[in-house]
Amino acid sequence: MDQILVRGGRPLNGQIEISGAKNACLTLMPAALLTEEPLELTNAPRLADIEMMTKILVSLGAAVQLSEQGRRITIEAKNFEQTLAHYDLVRKMRASILVLGPILARMGEATVSLPGGCAIGARPVDLHLKGLEAMGAELELKGGYVHAKTNGRLKAAVIEFPFVSVGATENLMMAATLGKGTTVLKNAAREPEIVDLARCLRKMGAEIEGEGTDFIEIEGVDALKGTSHKVIADRIELGTFMLAPAITGGEVELIGGKRRLVSSLIDKLEEADIAVEDTENGLKVRRKNGHIEALELTTEPYPGFPTDLQAQMMALLSIAKGTSKIHEKIFENRFMHAPELMRMGADIEVQGGTAIVRGVEKLRGAPVMATDLRASVGLVLAGLAAEGETQVSRVYHLDRGYENLEAKLAACGADIERVKE
Ligand code: EPZ
Repeated sequence: MDQILVRGGRPLNGQIEISGAKNACLTLMPAALLTEEPLELTNAPRLADIEMMTKILVSLGAAVQLSEQGRRITIEAKNFEQTLAHYDLVRKMRASILVLGPILARMGEATVSLPGGCAIGARPVDLHLKGLEAMGAELELKGGYVHAKTNGRLKAAVIEFPFVSVGATENLMMAATLGKGTTVLKNAAREPEIVDLARCLRKMGAEIEGEGTDFIEIEGVDALKGTSHKVIADRIELGTFMLAPAITGGEVELIGGKRRLVSSLIDKLEEADIAVEDTENGLKVRRKNGHIEALELTTEPYPGFPTDLQAQMMALLSIAKGTSKIHEKIFENRFMHAPELMRMGADIEVQGGTAIVRGVEKLRGAPVMATDLRASVGLVLAGLAAEGETQVSRVYHLDRGYENLEAKLAACGADIERVKE
């Protein structure tokens, strides 16, 4: 397995180009299953998770073509070889559950392995399943698989989510595009990735209103057609790299960054005394007065502070002036980076869903272990600021969500390299 070595203490200066959004691409790709015509996605990120989703679509019988070094993906699900998404594929990536709605809507039956939990939590899919049942699907859970079938088309339903779920909103929005009648999703997720999916589905002929709000209406149509769609910029990659000059000092311009994608992060960065300015090509970030102010934050569904930036923010706040508080409200176990940061000298106390972070003068490089995608990049950020060398192991987590991480940071002056463990 690879390791990433970071020798910290150097301010970063330069530019970083933001790639297409992993979490938009992972729902846009299954949308191709809703039509027999080709769906072309451009500005796709080159990530392990995208390769994983490609394998699942191919296992169903879709033809997937990658070009422009993987940035252009053309998917044609003219006919299905099977409607089963196998455990061996699904267990490696939770987003695989997003093929369930589209297969069921298109084929009237689907067998998809339950994704199982992951490091950050149990991550059940009960809201996905309850929503499909409300739309007339008959579901049976057997042997770790969900067997779903419908008599004829899925039917319209009014579905009110007890709490916000990004994946359930995406799965049901896709399924409803081919349903009979108008489906309403209440307390729907409002993430930009959902807006991007709705825009793509509309270009495919879907009738959707209200994306980006918590009330989405989908009028089912008989069939969808192919289209070409550009994947939006990755707001989590953007937010992650905005924290790099904040934690090291220096000034970095994020090319393709848009303020509206990270407005809740920018509010917190302003509080931390970090300057974020709009430029012609994106956003420029630097410290205002050479230090970081402590703050309190709570993770919430969009437009609140994203849980996917919580670990990265904890790394920043571990060298802030004063004591910060982080409340993680989305996942039940998303503080595994805290003990790793403490190995680097951070002073963090975890009390249930709250982490108290007492800022220290300096972090010290140390061997640390990545546990999930965003925790691992939080450790890299800490390594950029720490004195000495940090070895981050299990970096396969990183490759799931960050394209060319080392190259992007090295281009701004970071002393970072990938080595075989
Ligand atoms: C998406 O996961 C993202 N993944 C996650 O990003 C992100 O952290 C999460 O949304 C929240 O923003 C993709 O888009 C591929 P949820 P998802 O359904 O859809 C619980 C990353 O690092 N829940 O909004 O799985 C769930 O356990 C990843 O890129 C149920 O209980 O998240 C969680 O506690 C990590 N039952 C909360 O709701 C359900 O049926 C929010 O989950 C569904 C969810």
